[in-house]
Parts: sequence; C-alpha cells; structure tokens
Amino acid sequence: MVKKLTLSAILLASSLFAASEVNVYSHRHYDSDKILFKKFEENTGIKVNVVTAKAEELVSKLAIEGENTPADILITADIGNLYEAKTRNLLQSIESKTLQENIPSHLRDDQNQWFALTKRARIFVYNPSKIDEKNLGDYFSITKPEFKGKIITRSSTNAYNKSLLASIIANHGEEKALEFTKGLVDNFAYNPKGGDRDQIRAVAAGDADLAIVNTYYLGVMLNGKDKKDLEIAKSVKIFFPAQETTGTHINISGAGVTNFAKNKENAVKLIEFLSSEEAQATFAEGNHEYPVNAKVKPSSTVSSWGTFKEDNISLNEIGKNTKKAVEIATEGNWK
Ligand SMILES: [Fe+2]
Repeated sequence: MVKKLTLSAILLASSLFAASEVNVYSHRHYDSDKILFKKFEENTGIKVNVVTAKAEELVSKLAIEGENTPADILITADIGNLYEAKTRNLLQSIESKTLQENIPSHLRDDQNQWFALTKRARIFVYNPSKIDEKNLGDYFSITKPEFKGKIITRSSTNAYNKSLLASIIANHGEEKALEFTKGLVDNFAYNPKGGDRDQIRAVAAGDADLAIVNTYYLGVMLNGKDKKDLEIAKSVKIFFPAQETTGTHINISGAGVTNFAKNKENAVKLIEFLSSEEAQATFAEGNHEYPVNAKVKPSSTVSSWGTFKEDNISLNEIGKNTKKAVEIATEGNWK
C-alpha cells in the first residue's frame, strides 16, 4: 500500500510538473527572447525550457524524435525552415482567436501551423562616400558591372539568403534568379564569410562598398554598448531595394506547435503571449525587428529609416522555392 501510494504520488507530481512547463526548440539567438520567456514564466508560472540550435538541426531532431519529442514549440528565424517543418508533418494546426487578431493573415500559415512573430527586411547597407544612391534600385541593380569587386553578403547556405533567392525565383522565375546569382558572385569583393554584422563592419572598414543584410543587425549595432560598432553603424547608409518593383524582401521569424506536443495548451499560451502588444514591443525595442502586431510601432531607430514598400508575396511561395534556391546558388557558384 505504501509503495502504491508512493508511486501514485510520483505520478501525480510528474503530471503536475508536466502541466506547468513548455518545451521550446528555437533558432532565435537574441536577448529579447530570454527576457520574454522569463516574463511569461513570471506571469503564468509555466516553466519555459529552451533548446537553442540551428533551425535545420532542430527540424531534423523533431523528425528523428517523432512522437517521443519533448518539444512543444518550434521557433525559427526564417520562413524556409518553418515551411519545411510543416511539409514534413512536424507541426499541427491550432485554433486561436488571439493569434488571428494579433497577426495579419498573410503572416500566418493558411492551416494555422505556423505564425510569424517578427519581420525583418533584407536591405543594402553601403558606404556613402563610395556609392551614389542614384545607382541603386532593385536586387538586380547591384549585379551591374560597375559594382565589380564591391559587393559582399554572407554564404548562400544561410537561411536569410536562401529565402531572398527563393523570393527572386517566385517573383521573376528561375532564369532571372540564376542571372542574379551569377551577377552577384561576379561582383563579390571576396568569398562570403561571417554573419550580417561582419558584412556591415567590412563595408565601414572599406573592404567592400555594399552589403546585403537584415535590418535588425544595424538597429542592434546603433543601440548596443559596443562603441566601435556604434561608430561603424553610423558611418554606413541604408537602402531599401526594389521600391519601384516588387518591394523589399521580407522574411519572418515564427513559431508553430509541434505535431506531438505534450503541453499543447501551454504552447498556445506562449505563442499568444509572444504576439501580444507587450511582447511585440520587446522584440521591436530589444532586437529592432519589425513587429507583426499592427498595434505596435517599430523602435525609434527603425522608424527613423522611414516606411517602405514591402514585398508581400506569399511566404508559402518563398518556402516552396527554397530547395530550388539552393540548387541555383550552387549552379551560380555562390559559396
Ligand atoms: Fe539573425
């Protein structure tokens, strides 16, 4: 009897414990997220356990673990990997009025399997003493011969560049996307290396004249504690490509509830919280991303860059073309 009681006490304790946690696999590597998970814990008493790794690794991990996965939520920093997770049946549809209200329909999956949490624009950062803004236009504009040896961006294996190229395929077709890739590679100052922040530093140092990067990195550098990065960020200028045509490429970071989530209710609660005005303001102020909740304004730094035309092509179209983008990048020799 004593033994039986002990066992049921353990079962009860573990089920109580399970009911008060949520397990997150996340590729987002920003301080804003740590702050928000802590806030959620304080507000709800639900413990947030986070495993951080590259999205590709997390998606494979989910697939291998199958129904034994501990993960309740997958968070990625790009659309390609969310799309991949959905295609591989690793996510599930969730019904949430809150998410429908907080997130515009073009920024969530049509079957409610993923939801955008933030937006980021993939823009040009350039050295104004070397480049005249008048010579810049759409993404193809930097493939002109006059920019030979002047352009940099990170590797084509990076999710942000994969999605950019996928959006070019979706908007202009495969042939034009290959032309863009070849023209870009022809104009590289050197082979891709480093992250987006390194590209901005290299432009400021005079190693190249223009880089393709995400907006929030510049926002973070302009507001960070690193004085050197602050001077670097102040010395470069920002340009929103494709204002006369498709609009600037927009990627998202987003979240979905995993197919075998053990803590589904808590998972929905956490994603709802991340879409709230309070959390969206933290993403905007802390990481200088564009909020998805229309009630929240971008940070003052990001707002100072002005409004611009966004490419509103369906994120599913971008996800669908990600594999093709990898092939075209390889064919065009974009390392
Ligand atoms: Fe990033």
